Amino acid sequence: MQTDNLQNTDLNESKTVLQLREKSSELSQIHLRELLSNPERNRILSILTDSLLFDYSHEKLDSEAVSLLLKLAEEKELLKKFNAMFKGDKINSTEKRRVLHRALRMSRDESLTIDGQDIVKDVHAVLDRVKQFSSDVREGKRTGHTGKKLSTFISIGIGGSYLAGDFVYNSLKSHQTYEKLSEGLELKFLANVCPIDFSRAVKAIDFEQTLFIVISKTFTTAETMLNARNCKQWLLDRYREKYPNLSDKDIESIISKQFVAVSTNIAETDRFGIDKENVFGFWDWVGGRYSVWSAVGALPLSLAFGFEVFQEFLSGGRSIDETIVNCKSTNGIKENIPIMMGLIGFWNTFICGKSTRVILPYSQALCKFPNHVQQLDMESNGKSVSITSNKFVDYQCGPVVFGEPGTNGQHSFYQLIHQGRSLSCEFIGHAKPQFDLKYNNEIVSNHDELMSNFFAQPDALANGKYTEEELQGIPPELAQHKTFKGNNTSFSILLKELNAFTTGQLLAIYEHRVATEGFIYDINSFDQWGVELGKVLANDVRKVLAKNVLGDEETKKFNSATLNLMNFFTENKK
Ligand code: F6P
Repeated sequence: MQTDNLQNTDLNESKTVLQLREKSSELSQIHLRELLSNPERNRILSILTDSLLFDYSHEKLDSEAVSLLLKLAEEKELLKKFNAMFKGDKINSTEKRRVLHRALRMSRDESLTIDGQDIVKDVHAVLDRVKQFSSDVREGKRTGHTGKKLSTFISIGIGGSYLAGDFVYNSLKSHQTYEKLSEGLELKFLANVCPIDFSRAVKAIDFEQTLFIVISKTFTTAETMLNARNCKQWLLDRYREKYPNLSDKDIESIISKQFVAVSTNIAETDRFGIDKENVFGFWDWVGGRYSVWSAVGALPLSLAFGFEVFQEFLSGGRSIDETIVNCKSTNGIKENIPIMMGLIGFWNTFICGKSTRVILPYSQALCKFPNHVQQLDMESNGKSVSITSNKFVDYQCGPVVFGEPGTNGQHSFYQLIHQGRSLSCEFIGHAKPQFDLKYNNEIVSNHDELMSNFFAQPDALANGKYTEEELQGIPPELAQHKTFKGNNTSFSILLKELNAFTTGQLLAIYEHRVATEGFIYDINSFDQWGVELGKVLANDVRKVLAKNVLGDEETKKFNSATLNLMNFFTENKK
């Protein structure tokens, strides 16, 4: 059965999807090299804003395919769904939660009333506290237990309570302006429960000058809580070594001055021993992977760079939200970067069957962006149940995501993209370097060298090298080895510069892009039930490892293959 209205229906039964598939097979007959030879087509397939150029001319698309995607956007009521999200409907229905990370970046003069409460006011009340706290620390008004300036900040958290913070920190820390603002200060992250991560985090730091920030929405995440307890013990041990006669009051003061928390679970932060006034709250309507806009990101980043820089980051995110709020029509969608990116993502994954998406930032400052997008995209859209029918869908949703900054990736996995499998490539760069280098005898600066690759790779992937003329002179036995069929698609995002504002824009673009795809797939992009089972099983293993012996009752829970591995582990761990 085919239907025009996709609400509550299977994507595979949609007429528009069928038309898109037909279009895709029609376009598969035309080499991308040929499509790219049409300047008019190339001009249409891009969106220019004040701060960036989004170019999707290297995708296997033409204006007809774009029109069909826009038709799908209409049928799937994408604008209506964004509106429902922005106004606070409980679209995360499996957790009975609203999805309101947008409210975290709304400005002070706006309001959004939820259950009779203006949540924008609440957001700014926490931001005001972050502002005060971070400036007190940065100005040395708030010190460690012994009165020394706090200059090392260790952010303890995992997943959504870590990845985006690390991304933003890396994105900004080499920018000349922000570098000056963070002089003499260091922000470190402790995420993995692997003891090596702990030992690296506390290596070569002055314990009297260290502030630990425990970030956990639930404040029950096993990895974060163990890391936090270890840090607490480590800090008290260092103090006891240096000051053997510590009183209970001293211990209280150490924790109160050198431990703060960001969480929604005040009961647990209290139980951990963190003063209420040292806890920065957020709300259950902020999903972990969208929480960098709350105190989760505000606190560590304001400590590192100052609150004003974080505000710039928020403004960048807000500017992207506004593009969606102000988008009222299908024509508007055509000019809307995140929604268009979502539609292109759907085209590549669902219609063209490319199951892998690769994020390729040509900027070392964006080195952690692929890590964050991995969680953002795969934890959001790695699902297979319809949110409308609560039944399994008969298609695969989110793609596999990985990435690496150029040019490192070129010397690693690009071989596969050029001559192996067909992936969706997403190039990201910035025109103005954060820092550049050019010695006299070099033809170009490092940044220009880097960006030469940024421009060359999409063409190399698209055009390939396969004609007789191009392969001339190659020995016959090598001709196929040296053939590049091309036809590999990509899009490029070129920022004017990479600063706090555009970092916020980039992140919000990807967030809304992921939401767009989730809306089309009719899944809940905002829960994460898939991470639960492994956590539960780890509890059983933990009990066995705590006893350090295998073979009793508990081991019956495991199959022989896992028991074999566990035996090998216990025999060899010492
Ligand atoms: O990995 C699952 C997850 O629930 C993420 O969604 C979340 O960001 C992370 O764990 C950390 O959770 P918390 O902030 O509660 O420690």
